Amino acid sequence: MTLTINPNDISGVVEADRNHVWHHLIQHKPFETVDPRIIVEGRGMRVWDATGKEHLDAVSGGVWTVNVGYGRESIANAVRDQLIKLNYFANSAGSIPGAQFAKRLIEKMPGMTRVYYSNSGSEANEKVFKMVRQISHRHRGGRKSKILYRERDYHGTTITALSAAGQPQRAAQYGPFTPGFVEVPHCLEYRNQYGAIDNYGEAAADAIEEVIVREGPDTVGAICLEPITAGGGVITPPRGYWEKVQDICRRHEVMIHIDEVVCGVGRTGTWFGYQNYGVKPDFVTMAKGVASGYAAISCTTTTEAIFELFKDDAADPLSYFRDISTFGGCASGPAAALENMRIIEDEGLLDNTLAMGARLEGNLRALMDKHAVIGDVRGKGLFWGAELVADRSTREPVDEKRAQAVVADCMAQGVIIGVTNRSIPGFNNTLCLSPALIATSDDIDRITDAIDKALSRVFG
Ligand SMILES: Cc1ncc(COP(=O)(O)O)c(C=O)c1O
Repeated sequence: MTLTINPNDISGVVEADRNHVWHHLIQHKPFETVDPRIIVEGRGMRVWDATGKEHLDAVSGGVWTVNVGYGRESIANAVRDQLIKLNYFANSAGSIPGAQFAKRLIEKMPGMTRVYYSNSGSEANEKVFKMVRQISHRHRGGRKSKILYRERDYHGTTITALSAAGQPQRAAQYGPFTPGFVEVPHCLEYRNQYGAIDNYGEAAADAIEEVIVREGPDTVGAICLEPITAGGGVITPPRGYWEKVQDICRRHEVMIHIDEVVCGVGRTGTWFGYQNYGVKPDFVTMAKGVASGYAAISCTTTTEAIFELFKDDAADPLSYFRDISTFGGCASGPAAALENMRIIEDEGLLDNTLAMGARLEGNLRALMDKHAVIGDVRGKGLFWGAELVADRSTREPVDEKRAQAVVADCMAQGVIIGVTNRSIPGFNNTLCLSPALIATSDDIDRITDAIDKALSRVFG
C-alpha cells in the first residue's frame, strides 16, 4: 500500500495534538474547550500558527533558544550534509564537526580547554555535578562534595537538577531530592533582603560566604550560578557582586560553575554572560543558543586543570569520567553549532545585540515612565525583564493572572512575549523578552508598542 501524505494539509493535526500530545509546562484542562496552539512555520523573527496567523516572536522560540532566527537554510544544509556523511557514532570516538566546533568554541572562552557533549541544559549541568562529586571522592578524601545553588536560579528538570533549583514551584511535589545541594540567597537588589545599605552586591555575596561557613568550608566543593538569572526574574548581578563571589570562592576553594544555558552564545552581546563580569569559571555549561534549536546539543566545558584530575591514574579503572550521553554523539549538533557560530560572526550579531539591546532598554524605560505598574526593568543585550508591581512604593507584585493577561493581549496583537512561569510563589510577575539576535529597530519598537497597548488595556 502506498501512503501519500500531503505535508501542507494540516487538517486533523489539532485534533491529533489535543488527543495525544502532552505539552510541556502547561495545564491541559483549557484544551478541552480551546484549541492547543500549533506553530507551523518560522522565518527570521516571525512564526505562523495553524490558523495562518503571523506572530512576531520576542522570546526566540518561547524559551530563549532561536538566537539566529528561523528558516536558516545554511544550518539545515550543514546538518543535512553531515547526516548523509555520518549521522552518529558514540562520543567515545570523535567526529569531524565535534572536533571543529570544540576548537571554535574554546577560542571564545579564554581559560577553558575541554568540551563534553550531551543534549540538554539539564544534562550538561548534571555532568558538572557528577564531576564535582567524583573530584571529591578521588581527590578530596570525600570532603567538598556539597554544591551550592542560588535562590531563584534554575538548572534543569531532572531530579538532581531540581535538587539545585532555587524555584520552589518547579521543584514542589517532585521530591525526595538528591542530597548535598544547599541554597544561598538571591541577589535581586529590587527585592533587597538586607535593609538600607549602599553595597547590596557585596552583602549578597557575603550571604554566600555565611552559608559556606555554616556548612563548613571543608564540605563545599562548588557553586552553580546563572550569570544573569533567567526564569527566576531576569536578575542582573548587582555592582560588586561577582568580584566578591570570586574572592570568597578562591578563599574557600569552592569551584565556580556558570550555567550559561540561556545567556551563552551571544544573548547578552558577548559570547558568554560571565564575560560581562570578569568571572574565571572552572565549569561552563550551555545549551539553548548553541545551535539555536536547529539540533539538540549541549556542552559542558572545563579548564585543563579540571580535565587533568580525570586522567591522573590510567591504571585505576575508576579514575576517569565514566559517563556517556548516547545522543551526545549525534553529529548534527556540532554541525549545526558550527554554522550557527559562523552566522553570528559573519552577520555581526553580537554588535547587533548590543545596539538593539540598548534600544529595547530605552523603550522599556520609556514605558516605565508611562506605566506605574512597571516597578523595575533589568537585563543585558537582548535579554530583558520588566517586573510588574501593584504599588511602586510597597513593590507588591501584581497578581500573576494580570501579568499573564498582558502576555495574552500581546499574543492577540501578534507579538509573543513571556512571563516568569511557575517559578517563585507570588513572584511570577516579570515580563520576559529575548528576541533573536537578528532583531531590527522596527521589530524592537513593535514589541514595546504591543506591551504599551497591553499594559494600558490590562491596567487602565
Ligand atoms: C538557566 C537554565 N539552565 C538549565 C536549563 C535546562 O535546560 P534544558 O531544558 O535544556 O534541560 C534551563 C532551561 O530553561 C535554564 O533556563
